[in-house]
Amino acid sequence: MTAYLIKSVSVVGAAPTDLLIRDGVVAEVGAGLTAPDATVIDGAGLVALPGLVDLHTHLREPGREDAETVESGSRAAALGGYTAVCAMANTSPVADTAGVVEQVWRLGREAGLVDVQPIGAVTVGLAGGQLAELGAMADSAARVRIFSDDGHCVADPKLMRRALEYVKAFDGVIAQHAEEPRLTEGAQMHEGEVSTRLGLTGWPAVAEEAIIARDVLLAEHVGSRLHICHVSTAGSVEVLRHAKARGVKVTAEVTPHHLLLTDSKAETYDPVYKVNPPLRTGTDVAALRAALAEGVIDIIATDHAPHAVEDKECEWAYARPGMLGLETALSIALDVLGPQWDLIAERMSRAPARIAGLEGHGVDPAPGVPANLTLVDPAARRTIEPAELASRSRNTPYARMTLPGRIVATFLRGEPTVLDGKAVK
Ligand code: DOR
Repeated sequence: MTAYLIKSVSVVGAAPTDLLIRDGVVAEVGAGLTAPDATVIDGAGLVALPGLVDLHTHLREPGREDAETVESGSRAAALGGYTAVCAMANTSPVADTAGVVEQVWRLGREAGLVDVQPIGAVTVGLAGGQLAELGAMADSAARVRIFSDDGHCVADPKLMRRALEYVKAFDGVIAQHAEEPRLTEGAQMHEGEVSTRLGLTGWPAVAEEAIIARDVLLAEHVGSRLHICHVSTAGSVEVLRHAKARGVKVTAEVTPHHLLLTDSKAETYDPVYKVNPPLRTGTDVAALRAALAEGVIDIIATDHAPHAVEDKECEWAYARPGMLGLETALSIALDVLGPQWDLIAERMSRAPARIAGLEGHGVDPAPGVPANLTLVDPAARRTIEPAELASRSRNTPYARMTLPGRIVATFLRGEPTVLDGKAVK
């Protein structure tokens, strides 16, 4: 195993130091390190972060390998600075059995580019009718701890209660896609001034807020862990703030796109901006940013949602919702938060690793810790060219935008998955 000596790198924004990576761990940290056998990386101007952890990734395998595979999504993740991703269950077949989650987990191991932690479905076939085999998925080789019907809301309150109760036995968490389905029938975009003007059916903020309010009360009632996927409205932030103040065990994520883009993008009628939950207003964006800084929202999660060309380059009404995210998330975070490295490490690595219970991830580089880390060049700027992305899909909302920051290298247990900004395999 090759050793790597990273010279003069800033560890999570601190004064430059040297990092020696050997035998899968950070062997030494300190000034003036030497290691004749090591490959030297010039870290001047670079920031080392604990490898990013994405709690919300769609890898599309099994079923839509034309849009993404575990391997292509893992490569996109590594290039984005990630060392672990949690793979959503809305595949085909759905990841609602031990067999499917083990398949995804095994494919992740074979690709070997990031740790792929499967998420299990809450209900059979994501149909919302009966609980999936949560215990068998938890006991499987994939050791599932997060369950989600993402893409669909677990709308039945009794099922939601049972799911929350069930996962307590193994310290699991239910990740809810908060969308009251009756309030969003036929919805195409955020319900507001822009949807009225465009004549598109609206997705009202209250459809998200009502489910979050219900579920934080359910989680409080049964004493279970609840996670809220892709929070998108100012009202949701207020509900979460209230729940956290009461001590409810709830965590929440926001996506990069909900931190940056607004519903005015729908005026282009370009389906690349169609996403669920939809892009909201500037007021919502400001509230989400404040909540992220404050900790009412715990993490940034990408909701990386690759879609094949025919599912995106069509009329708005027929397009599938979702956007790519893995290869641009750190740049958007840097754009939105600035060089607040400790906050970025917390929201994109430490906290998601804690929520997912991923050992060896989300730990700052220090002697003896697994060498899961990424090197960022904050001074670099890059223009996003969809054709250059490692994802099999092209549906990035940032095409031809120039964004700050570049991932220079990523290490998974001491092995580089990315070097000089390029995937190693
Ligand atoms: O925009 C979205 N796309 N939101 C979801 O909840 C699901 C996802 C997908 O699977 O494409």
